[in-house]
Amino acid sequence: MSQEFRSVTFSETTLTELMIPAYANFGGKVHGGILLSLMDKIAYAAATKHSGMYCVTVAVEGVEFLSPVEVGDLVTLQASVNYVGRSTMIVGIRVESLNPRMSYVRHTNSCYFTMAAKNDDGELTEVPGLILESETHVRRFYEGRRLKLISAEKRKMLKAPLDDLKSAIQELELGKERMKINF
Ligand SMILES: CC(C)(COP(=O)(O)OP(=O)(O)OC[C@H]1O[C@@H](n2cnc3c(N)ncnc32)[C@H](O)[C@@H]1OP(=O)(O)O)[C@@H](O)C(=O)NCCC(=O)NCCS
Repeated sequence: MSQEFRSVTFSETTLTELMIPAYANFGGKVHGGILLSLMDKIAYAAATKHSGMYCVTVAVEGVEFLSPVEVGDLVTLQASVNYVGRSTMIVGIRVESLNPRMSYVRHTNSCYFTMAAKNDDGELTEVPGLILESETHVRRFYEGRRLKLISAEKRKMLKAPLDDLKSAIQELELGKERMKINF
């Protein structure tokens, strides 16, 4: 068991990127995929700083695009390692978009990336523990632990086979879902 611990502040990371026209979709707003790629980069940066190892993205939770990002905006991402398990870290990311000419900032997204540390042989490797230096760090650690439990439950639920199709159909019909069964 690794006895090593690192503080949350040690791996805190900030990244700012200008939204150039090449990032736009057909509607003239920034592609969601561009923002996802930036989130993946900053999650990697925070996780590799904390662990000192090569990291891979395991899961993403809570990505929602709350408001559109415009070409010309300065998008800033802030990331911190909120929780560590044995080989995984939950990195919390906050994304804000600044319109530099109008001087307003919009909160675009907050989400969580689960990153796993791997050694040179590609095996999962234990990461250092976290030193929590404020109430906020404790709150985030607690929420990270809860997120890990909830997402494991969710995976279990999604993998469970549907063994009673008749009751499922009844439930869908009662729920007035917008579908027609055609067989
Ligand atoms: C995800 C992965 C690490 C799981 O490996 P595994 O041997 O089946 O994992 P285990 O069940 O032993 O769990 C290992 C850790 O992963 C976590 N984990 C596994 N599946 C997970 C999932 N779907 N979501 C979140 N965490 C997950 C476990 O909670 C555990 O965490 P801990 O060590 O901090 O306690 C492995 O499948 C993998 O390496 N996937 C590829 C990741 C990758 O290459 N990403 C880049 C995408 S291009």
